[in-house]
Amino acid sequence: MEPSSAAPLREMWYFALWGAALKRGRMLAKTLLGEPLLLGRGTDGDVFALRDICPHRGMPLSCGAFDGREIECCYHGWRFDRSGRCTAIPSLVPDQEFDIARIRVKRYPAVEVQGNIWVYLGDDPAGAPPVPVLPDIGERGPDLYEAVRFPCAIDHAVVGLMDPAHGPFVHRAWWWRSRRSIHEKAKAFAPAPFGFTMLRHAPSANSNAYRLLGGKPETEITFRLPSIRIEQIRSGRHAVVNLTAVTPLGDGESEINHAIYWTLPWLGLLKPLLRPYVRAFLRQDRDVMVMQQQGLRYDPPLLLINDADTQAKWYHRLKNEYARARAENRPFVNPVKERMLRWRS
Ligand code: FES
Ligand SMILES: [Fe+2]
Repeated sequence: MEPSSAAPLREMWYFALWGAALKRGRMLAKTLLGEPLLLGRGTDGDVFALRDICPHRGMPLSCGAFDGREIECCYHGWRFDRSGRCTAIPSLVPDQEFDIARIRVKRYPAVEVQGNIWVYLGDDPAGAPPVPVLPDIGERGPDLYEAVRFPCAIDHAVVGLMDPAHGPFVHRAWWWRSRRSIHEKAKAFAPAPFGFTMLRHAPSANSNAYRLLGGKPETEITFRLPSIRIEQIRSGRHAVVNLTAVTPLGDGESEINHAIYWTLPWLGLLKPLLRPYVRAFLRQDRDVMVMQQQGLRYDPPLLLINDADTQAKWYHRLKNEYARARAENRPFVNPVKERMLRWRS
């Protein structure tokens, strides 16, 4: 078994929210890694993130009002700008000596990339894996977005993402896989920044869904810390790119965010048909993890085998190395080596 800490990595960008869920001049509350966040979008369209606790008497700031520029706490009306600086305390009398500029709410770095809002949980983004920029699709939002909450800690959700052996058992469907479709696979892997890549290959002939693309599709799948999987499918001049990002919410709950982008204009017409499949797929993963939790409650030792679980082992190694590198203030050294992995699935 790989030694590892189950706590999510800090000093990382995490997928916080699908950008379209946050309108201009609005704010909302969300807990990430057990920390209460206020996520907001100013009238200028820029996003920001603050700790969702008023420094006065602990009221969630998200219970107050936001005018697109400043947040007003609902309890005593203290006001804060989007950088977290206090700008007004209504109860102060005009000649009272009090420096409100000293009062600050913690601000978290927040950016919006290709329609998704990412927040940095930590103090120093230099040296951290950057927010991923997906290839082939330019700066625009996803064509399809779905999120599912899993009642499990981040490690089990991430390992579930990169587990090639569960497909024929968990994702059985006439349009995708069946037990009878199990056959031997051999895939080449190479280290990638803060992770690894399953190098470009033709998707399994049994994966009917890829046939929609026409031509000779090829796929490449990259995993990157902390919990990001990017699948890039290319066929001729067209591409479908899937981004899956696991966000630890807290208390053994994780959110799987799944954003799909494509360059085929007609695929948009199929969206109403496609969405139920994406949902069904994510629910199959969730249901199996809900059942797994019943066993994990007893904290059993786990047995990761070669080669089907090698990616899971790499994940634990990458995670441990990142935590150590940050603690020791040294550069991260990727522990993954080039390898061919073989399994049946
Ligand atoms: S608790 Fe926020 S102003 Fe008093
Ligand atoms: Fe799955």
